[in-house]
Amino acid sequence: MAAVPAYVPGRKTPGAIVLASNESPYGLLPSVAAVLAEQAKGVSRYPDMGATRLLDALAAHHGVEPSRIAVGAGSVEVVGQIAAATVDAGDEVVFGWRAFEAYPIITAVAGGVAVRAPLDARHTHDVGAMIAAVTDRTRLVLLCNPNNPTGTAIGRDELLRLADGIPPDVVLVVDEAYREYVDPAAVPDAFELLGDRPNVVVTRTFSKAYALAGLRVGYAIASPDVAAAVRKCQIPFSVSALAQEAAIAALGDVEEVRRRAALTVAERERVATALRAGGYDVPDSQANFVWLPLGEGAADFAAACAEAGILVRPFAGEGVRVTIGLDTENDALLNVALARSAVRA
Ligand SMILES: Cc1ncc(COP(=O)(O)O)c(C=O)c1O
Repeated sequence: MAAVPAYVPGRKTPGAIVLASNESPYGLLPSVAAVLAEQAKGVSRYPDMGATRLLDALAAHHGVEPSRIAVGAGSVEVVGQIAAATVDAGDEVVFGWRAFEAYPIITAVAGGVAVRAPLDARHTHDVGAMIAAVTDRTRLVLLCNPNNPTGTAIGRDELLRLADGIPPDVVLVVDEAYREYVDPAAVPDAFELLGDRPNVVVTRTFSKAYALAGLRVGYAIASPDVAAAVRKCQIPFSVSALAQEAAIAALGDVEEVRRRAALTVAERERVATALRAGGYDVPDSQANFVWLPLGEGAADFAAACAEAGILVRPFAGEGVRVTIGLDTENDALLNVALARSAVRA
């Protein structure tokens, strides 16, 4: 256990502007608030362990059979369930690096060996490096698309190349936690593109665009066999009744989800353009955050933000991830960043 890295959550300080955890800044969806009040009465009972109604709602949403869906307490737990189902001691798990910081933890907890394929010079997954990293010990490949924390995404040709380059008995997970923020013309829906391949699993979450991070619901779409295995690895009752009902209500509110995601995308482009004009290198983001590859300047940048009451997410020696917030919050961030632009290193 000493070798397992600890997950570092985004900071929370009362009164601060929190741009550290890639959450929605818009609060609860209106449809969800009413459902929560009603469902709170039921918390003395266990939830439906099979999440039957949620599975049905997700199946209808994606146009698949419910047997192809598995849920968990956030998509991070779902990825953990997939690792538990596929990885034995000493097996290898390939992912790009840097990608979502839970991947090395999930790998280690499953007893696996993490194999990190470096991102390319534009902070984007290097599909050739990922394929080259696969050996006969590899059981699982994790692709974060768009990538956390860099925001970059690979397109259709690269995704197909990755899926084609992996042996059919290796599971490929495409983690689409930020799907609602992508330009669909540039970034394929992995389920639409690869959903007929039995070794491909797509994960999604209610934590970002659906504004339910605190209730913990995520899911996988997979072949029925893989979905059944992933369901078996779920901790019993890990998705609460409140979470199940909130997720069903949120799924019924897709127009509002789309409207909010479009606001975030517009703000993301405004923030990225302003930062670039101030001299910052900002890789193209398809998510609800931007990445500033500041290297050794990351800690200082985050400290300056904190002094101004803004919490961002630094990765020491690498860069800073800034979640897109409300326009006023983004303005506050830009004030700090642009005041420092001459001394940003
Ligand atoms: C790429 C990626 N996957 C999964 C998650 C986990 O989301 P949750 O467990 O809240 O669904 C995150 C959260 O930051 C993420 O960035």
